[in-house]
Amino acid sequence: MQDKIKSIEDALQKLSPDAITDLEAFKRQYIGKQSLIQDLFKSFKDLDADAKRLVGPKVNALKQRAQELYDAALEAGQSAVEVPWKDASLPGRAMDFGSLHPLSLVERELMEIFDFVGFTLAKGPEIEDDWHNFTALNFPANHPARDMQDTFFVDSKEERVLRTHTSGVQVRTMLNSKPPIRVIAPGRVYRCDSDATHSPVFHQLEGLVVDKRVSFKDLKETLFYFTEAFFGKGFEVRFRPSYFPFTEPSAEMDIGKRNAQGGIDWMEILGCGMVDPAVLENCGIDPKEYQGYAFGIGIDRLAMLKFGIPDIRLLYENDIRFLGQFS
Ligand code: PHE
Repeated sequence: MQDKIKSIEDALQKLSPDAITDLEAFKRQYIGKQSLIQDLFKSFKDLDADAKRLVGPKVNALKQRAQELYDAALEAGQSAVEVPWKDASLPGRAMDFGSLHPLSLVERELMEIFDFVGFTLAKGPEIEDDWHNFTALNFPANHPARDMQDTFFVDSKEERVLRTHTSGVQVRTMLNSKPPIRVIAPGRVYRCDSDATHSPVFHQLEGLVVDKRVSFKDLKETLFYFTEAFFGKGFEVRFRPSYFPFTEPSAEMDIGKRNAQGGIDWMEILGCGMVDPAVLENCGIDPKEYQGYAFGIGIDRLAMLKFGIPDIRLLYENDIRFLGQFS
C-alpha cells in the first residue's frame, strides 16, 4: 500500500495542469470510480486502526491533489478555446431575391392583354391523345400533314403523344362548352427539333373564338390589338397565306423590325385562321350556325424578340446569370 501511494504521489508531483492534455484520461486514472486513488480507498477498509491513521491523511491528500490538478487543467483548457474574431461593422450577407423567368413574364403579359378583351383561360394535358392532338383537328390518319410536326410519341402504339401544339385545347374546349367561346390556352408543347430558333420544348398560347358571324376581319383586329399591346408601335406586321389542316383559310403572321440597312427583319410569331367547318363538326358545333377563328402564338419567339435573346436554348439552360436579367 505504501508503495502504491508513493508511486501515485510521484506521478502527481511531476504533473502540472498544462501537461494534462487528455483530461478524460486523467480523470479515469486518478478521479473516477475505477481510478488508482479509489482503489486505495477500497483497500483502506482492510487495514488495522493504526495503519488507517497513518495512511488515511495521505490518501486524502492524493485525492485532493488530483482534483486540484484536474480543475486547474480544465480551466486552462477552457480559456484556451479560441473566440472567433468578429467584425460587427461587416455588412450582413444579403438574401437574393428570385425573379420570374422571361417566359413567365411574357405569358403573364399575354394573359393580361387577352383578359382585357374578354378571353378566359382554358387548359389541356401535355400528354395528349392522338385524337385531340391530330384527328379531331382534321389531320387524317397517316396524312403527311402530321410530318409537319415532329412528334414525340409516349407509347409504342402511337396513341399518346407529347402535345405538338396547344390546338388540342380548342377541341377540348368546344366539346366541353357551348358557344359563344372566347378562350386562350397558354402552355408547353413539344417537338423533336433543336437549333438556335427551335427547342424540343417550347411554349404556345392558343386562342379560340367561336360565335355567330365571326369573320377573318375579327381575327385580324384581335391580332393587331395584341401586337400593338405587346410590342408597342414601331413594329411592322405582315400576314402570309399558309396551311393548317384545322383552319381555312390559314395564315402566318410575322413581326418585322427595321434593321440598320433600312430593310426589315421578319420573324414568324404565330399561325392562325378560320376554324375549319370539319373541326367544328368533329366537336359537335353546327358550322352552318357558328364560325370561329383560332391562333397559336409562339411565346418563346415573343420573349426572344422582346428581350433581344439571340438563341432559344438560353431560355432552357437555367443559367442564373442569364435569368437574373429579367424582372
Ligand atoms: N397549332 C399551330 C402550330 O402549332 C398554330 C395554329 C394555331 C394555327 C391555331 C392556326 C390556328 O403551328
